[in-house]
Amino acid sequence: MADLRNNFVGIKSPNPFWLASAPPTDKAYNVERAFKAGWGGVVWKTLGSEGPPVVNVNGPRYGAIWGADRRLLGLNNIELITDRDLQTNLREMKQVKMNWPDRALVASIMVPCVEEEWRAILPLVEETGVDGIELNFGCPHGMSERGMGSAVGQVPEYIEMVVRWCKQYTRMPVITKLTPNISDIRHPARAAKRGGTDAVSLINTISSIVSVDLDTFSPNPSIGGKGSHGGYCGPAVKPIALNMVAEIARDAETYRMPISGIGGVTTWRDAAEFLALGAGNVQVCTAAMTYGFKIVEEMISGLSDWMDEKGHKTLDDITGRAVGNVTDWQFLNLNYVAKAHIDQDACIKCGRCHIACEDTSHQAITQMVDGVRYFEVIEEECVGCNLCVNVCPVENCITLEALPAGDLDKRTGKVVDPAYANWTQHPNNPMAVVAAE
Ligand SMILES: Cc1cc2nc3c(=O)[nH]c(=O)nc-3n(C[C@H](O)[C@H](O)[C@H](O)COP(=O)(O)O)c2cc1C
Ligand code: SF4
Ligand code: SF4
Repeated sequence: MADLRNNFVGIKSPNPFWLASAPPTDKAYNVERAFKAGWGGVVWKTLGSEGPPVVNVNGPRYGAIWGADRRLLGLNNIELITDRDLQTNLREMKQVKMNWPDRALVASIMVPCVEEEWRAILPLVEETGVDGIELNFGCPHGMSERGMGSAVGQVPEYIEMVVRWCKQYTRMPVITKLTPNISDIRHPARAAKRGGTDAVSLINTISSIVSVDLDTFSPNPSIGGKGSHGGYCGPAVKPIALNMVAEIARDAETYRMPISGIGGVTTWRDAAEFLALGAGNVQVCTAAMTYGFKIVEEMISGLSDWMDEKGHKTLDDITGRAVGNVTDWQFLNLNYVAKAHIDQDACIKCGRCHIACEDTSHQAITQMVDGVRYFEVIEEECVGCNLCVNVCPVENCITLEALPAGDLDKRTGKVVDPAYANWTQHPNNPMAVVAAE
C-alpha cells in the first residue's frame, strides 16, 4: 500500500492533507474532530496581536457561485482573522499539540508590519510546542486596509523584511503564505526566499465581488444594503492556484523551494495535481466547509488507491513530476496536429457540438447528413481546438486524436512533420531565429 507520510520542511504528518487556516481550524473543538477524521495537519486560524480581538460583521459573511446542480463552485467571504483572544488560542493549541503529537500543527500569524510586534508574538507561539508558523500575507479584505494581509503580500520588500525577522526571532520553520492578488507571483515568492523562508504556501483568497442583488442593488454578501469585496476560494480558483504553484516551481530563483498547495482542493485528484506541479503537500478549506471533515477519508483512500494502481510508492514519486512539462506557449510544438472524433454510439444528438463549432469555431461539425440529424467532424475544417469536447454533455463522446507523423492533414493539405518546430523558429515570427540558408 502507498506510503502517504509527509515531511514538509521537517514537519511530519501521516498524510499530505492539511486543513488551511480558516473557520474549520479556529478552535480546539474543531481541530480535535478534524484530527479524529484523519487530517494529517492543521494550520490554526490566523492569530493577531495581544489585545482586544478583531470584530467581525454580525450579518452574512459568505457569498457563493453554484453550478446548475447547485453544487458550490466558488465561495466568497468577508471574515477577518480569529476573533478569539490570543491567550485562549495559545492555550488550546498547546493542549491539541500534546493530544496529537503525530499530527502537524502550524500557527498562522498576522500582526502589524513592525519588528516589535513580531518579536513579541513569536516566543508566545513557540511556547505552545506547535511545529511551525505560517505568515498570513494574504487576506485581501479588512486586515489589508489596516496595513496587514495582502497589503504586505503585495510588496516584496515587506515580505522579505518580515520573513527575516521571523527567521531571526524563532527556531520554528517559517511558511510564507502568499496572496494571489498580484500580477506576477514569482516576485513575492522570490522575496520570501531571499528573506530565508523555509517554504511558501498559496493561494490565499482572490479579491472578488461574488454577485449583486438586483432588487436592492447591493453587492453580496449584503450588510444592511452595502457590501465590500471579499476573498474568493473553492473549486473555481483551483486553475489559478495551480498556475501560480507551477510558476514558482519552475522559476530558476525558487526552484525546489517547498510549496504547500492551496486553492480548490476538493478531491484526491486535485491534490495529486498540486503535488505533480511541485507542491509538497496541500491545504484545504472550502471542501471541508462544504462537506465536513470526513471528506478527508475519500482524499486519503483515493490518493492511496491511485498511487497503488500506478506503482507510486511514496509522495516523492509524484511531487514535481509535471513541472518539466510546463512550458511557455512559444515552445509548444506547432507540428503537432489533432482532430476531433465523435463516437456515434455514445452521441445523444443534442447538437451542442455543432452549434459551438458552427458559431464560434471552424464550422467543422455537421448537423444533418442525408436528411437526418447526424453529427460528425469535417476533417478538412477541424483545427483540433477542443471546444466541442468541452461543451459535449457526454463524457468521452468526443475525443481529440493526434494525427500520426506522415499522415495528411486534410485541412492544410500538408503531411504531418515528425520534427519538433515551435514559434521561435517559425517563418511568420519576425523575431524568429532561423538557421541561415
Ligand atoms: C471563511 C474563510 C476564512 C479564512 N480565514 C483565513 C485566515 O484567517 N487566514 C488565512 O491565512 N487564510 C484564511 N482563509 C483562506 C484559506 O486558508 C485558503 O487559503 C483559501 O480558502 C483557499 O483554499 P480553498 O479553495 O480550499 O478554500 C479563509 C478562507 C475562508 C473561506
Ligand atoms: S475541435 Fe474545434 S474545430 Fe474541430 S470540430 Fe471540435 S470545435 Fe470544431
Ligand atoms: S455534443 Fe456530444 S452528444 Fe451532443 S451531438 Fe455533439 S457529440 Fe453528440
